Amino acid sequence: SDIEKGTYPHYMLKEIDEQPFVIRNIITKYKDEDDSIKLDEEVRQAVQSADRIYIIAAGTSYHAGLVGKELLEKIANIPVETHIASEFLYNMPLLSKKPLFIFISQSGETADSRGVLVNVKKLGHQTLTITNVPGSTLSREAEYTLHTYAGPEIAVASTKAYTAQMAVLAILAVDTARASGLEMDFDPLQELGIVANAMEIFTEQKDVLEEVARDYLSVSRNCFFIGRSMDYHVCMEGALKLKEISYIQAEGFAGGELKHGTIALIEEGTPVIGLATQEKVHLNLRGNMKEVVARGAYPCMISMEGFQEDDDKIVMPKVHDYLTPLVSVIPMQLISYYAALHRGCDVDKPRNLAKSVTVE
Ligand code: AGP
Repeated sequence: SDIEKGTYPHYMLKEIDEQPFVIRNIITKYKDEDDSIKLDEEVRQAVQSADRIYIIAAGTSYHAGLVGKELLEKIANIPVETHIASEFLYNMPLLSKKPLFIFISQSGETADSRGVLVNVKKLGHQTLTITNVPGSTLSREAEYTLHTYAGPEIAVASTKAYTAQMAVLAILAVDTARASGLEMDFDPLQELGIVANAMEIFTEQKDVLEEVARDYLSVSRNCFFIGRSMDYHVCMEGALKLKEISYIQAEGFAGGELKHGTIALIEEGTPVIGLATQEKVHLNLRGNMKEVVARGAYPCMISMEGFQEDDDKIVMPKVHDYLTPLVSVIPMQLISYYAALHRGCDVDKPRNLAKSVTVE
């Protein structure tokens, strides 16, 4: 297995670095000869004919599903609900007349998601799995499969599978929109190319992120990630990464919710990572950052070209509004990686965790 890792000290770092290539690979796999989106006609039909989509997933895949909801609703105009698999299984919401169930799973083996799949199949509903392992249980048992083409993910902390899932969801959303005759000036295959290049800014300049990790997280006991709308979903993922591998108590919060309770946790020196890439809300988020700074927080702002301000620690290149999560998560993954490293944690095999959770 050392051969597969090549010169990398950890699988996680290798997999973070692979992300620009994974995105370019997805572009090729989903591109037809005439540059249009290549997708199985049956899948197209299934998505287009649904009156509501239920996305079911766990952990990082659930976080990709939260972004997927935004993409499918905004681009394809279909109502979407994203659910945590284990909750859905025992507390099923009222279903629409013609639902489509989309299971997002890197491994395709997550027991909680499979439990839902088995149940909704019994009810006769349509099912589609988005997975990195086409031969997996969730792929075999669902009617349709979309492959994320990220290559094997070995590190317990998921990185490239997450960005790949969101890329496929963006492609699916646009394909559905086009099939339904909606006008579309967003070309996902072209925009994903811009994303791949933007990702490289971070994978090629890791020193800044290593410094942020050392500076903010070598001794801290907790860390907060705050963002609004799409950025909020990425904050949840950033916090999960940090928790999993560095054991720092981390939470992702919606910027506007802080004042309703969470802000009580802010003390002198508490690290707060703010994410602001969305045109509509970046100024509100900056307001929330000021509120925590006034209470002693140690702020680290991640913003995007176009909306940046002088003191921002990390500025990502400009990408399409719909695709910012694919790029903004990279500094978070790398900060988590270096934080874990500095704290002497076992990056690839964190305590108490398994790569895929095959028990309920
Ligand atoms: C991610 O870093 C986690 N280790 C975990 O949350 C994972 O995403 C979750 O268990 C779901 O796995 P799956 O995508 O293989 O279904």
